[in-house]
Amino acid sequence: MTSFPTRRLRRLRGTPALRRIAAEHHLVPSQLVLPVFVKEGITEAQPIASMPGVSQHPLDAIADVVDEAAAAGLGGIMLFGVPAVRDAVGSGATDPDGILNRAIAVAARAAAGRLTVQADLCLDEFTDHGHCGLLAADGSVDNDATLEVYAEMGVAQARAGADVLGLSGMMDGQVAAVRAGLDAAGFAHVAILAYSAKYASAFYGPFRDAVESTLQGDRRTYQMDPANAREGVEEALVDIAEGADVVMVKPAMPYLDVLARVSDRSNVPVWAYQVSGEYAMIEHASAAGLIDRERAIGESLVGIRRAGADVILTYWAVEVAHWLRAGKELA
Ligand code: PBG
Repeated sequence: MTSFPTRRLRRLRGTPALRRIAAEHHLVPSQLVLPVFVKEGITEAQPIASMPGVSQHPLDAIADVVDEAAAAGLGGIMLFGVPAVRDAVGSGATDPDGILNRAIAVAARAAAGRLTVQADLCLDEFTDHGHCGLLAADGSVDNDATLEVYAEMGVAQARAGADVLGLSGMMDGQVAAVRAGLDAAGFAHVAILAYSAKYASAFYGPFRDAVESTLQGDRRTYQMDPANAREGVEEALVDIAEGADVVMVKPAMPYLDVLARVSDRSNVPVWAYQVSGEYAMIEHASAAGLIDRERAIGESLVGIRRAGADVILTYWAVEVAHWLRAGKELA
């Protein structure tokens, strides 16, 4: 008689209770952050066609969005502004009356400490050319000139009441520049979330609709090459050295290896952004009857967590937080 199998790993999979106690990874609502789009000049929420279930919100609705997110127990919201007017230097980003800065102020007042108010710190929504920075005379993105604007934008966001600034522009030196600007203006307490390993990704496609991006061409001279993982670790280490309080990998699902490597090397929290294309793929595939929507969402999130994310930015944050509060298993 054979002595195999010598190990019976199925033993802990036999019942829901065994599977539950054997689960290595969990999520709680405070580990979820909801991205929120605020559009200037609208009075009703406008659905985003490429992202079923996601809308652009009018400024007047932001307090309600915050209440809903706080009631769900989310860790925070990440605000993106969609201005009515754009120009070459992204003036709306630094203007205290710009849509994003106004939204931060409304959100901070509504949040009243129940969740963190975070803001995207990047120029692409505010420039008429759609790039994340200022353009030099030859049309290239001018790294060092952009840093000055980022520092000013950071101070405007901090002054409006943001708790965490999400630096997503991928300019070299941006964390140091924004940190210095904040400290000099009396905002030493405001935290920096560095989108450190941010890849030049096709999975941002639906987001560009959401913010009505005018970009022609691509962002490959500043966002990372999808072929590179070691470089993603280096980006995170540089950002930590410059003072990042949190580092991020983005997108999430195609870059789980990068997330795992960054998480191994980082002594600050590591977050991941499940981006618009990841969202749209699951929504459209499940609408077509090809996959089970809730299981696919849960599996995608637990996978991102397993790879090393402490916190996940996801457009499903509110819905998933309600599942978690009701005791539902993710996968
Ligand atoms: C830049 C920014 C982008 C996203 C978040 N911040 C777009 C880009 O880099 O082109 C994408 C988020 C998503 O796709 O959900 N401000």
